[in-house]
Amino acid sequence: MRTTISQLKEMKQNKQKIAMLTAYDYPTAQILDKAGIPAILVGDSLGMVVLGYDSTVSVTMEDMLHHLKAVVRGSQKAMVIADMPFMTYHLSPEQALLNAGRFMQEGGAQAVKLEGGVNVADKVKRIVDCGIPVMGHIGLTPQSVNQLSGFKVQGKTLTAALALLEDARALEKAGAFAIVLETMPAELAAMITAAVSIPTIGIGAGENCDGQVQVVSDMLGIFTDFVPKHTKKYADLNSIISKAVSGYVTEVAKGEFPTLKESFTLDKKVLEELKKCVSSEQ
Ligand code: KIV
Repeated sequence: MRTTISQLKEMKQNKQKIAMLTAYDYPTAQILDKAGIPAILVGDSLGMVVLGYDSTVSVTMEDMLHHLKAVVRGSQKAMVIADMPFMTYHLSPEQALLNAGRFMQEGGAQAVKLEGGVNVADKVKRIVDCGIPVMGHIGLTPQSVNQLSGFKVQGKTLTAALALLEDARALEKAGAFAIVLETMPAELAAMITAAVSIPTIGIGAGENCDGQVQVVSDMLGIFTDFVPKHTKKYADLNSIISKAVSGYVTEVAKGEFPTLKESFTLDKKVLEELKKCVSSEQ
């Protein structure tokens, strides 16, 4: 049985912190699941850290489904949450429901995530009313990077902070089971966390959220084009992989790879017969 939304809510009530990471492929999902992570987000950060776009705006339903299926195949215990891409839920509650349904039916997700607060509450309600758990996402919402004029800290003025509190309350009222709080002052994230009964999952939102989420490619040091301030690098896989690839290139160039250990040999008798056949042909 995978992690349920009730278990995540209980974790908040019991003051147990929730760890969440993104994943986009089968082997990473396997590693995260074996490490006991309660929830995996197939984030649309996929667009930037896997597909090489400069924002998440270009990511499509098909991109997400492709990677979601791999993550579902690679995990057994974690809840898998699928991120709804830009323009796949904005048009109407019906559009949102249809696409959320695809993630559940075709992709095998247990929940979906979408960006926004008051402005998407009607979509969240429609999806939840049909039995699909929804995670909200407020603060820095990367799909709105053009409207926000860049990846900037949100909620810094009184008006902006109050608006984010209202967004969080609207998401809770609409039935969201959790909310991602991205890139906002830690004091504001703490206030939002206290104001709602559902878990808040922070990324660049300080220590007082109910849980934390990180982009796996950032925390493992694979993606290095841009490292956000909120990232802690737990490993430097980019250097490890670069070193391994250089070693391979050098060994192939020098004829040091492969050796007998990595090769397959013919049975001696077969070899002798084969040599005879080849020489008689010449
Ligand atoms: O797409 C993503 O990875 C996300 C996280 C940053 C929360 O939305």
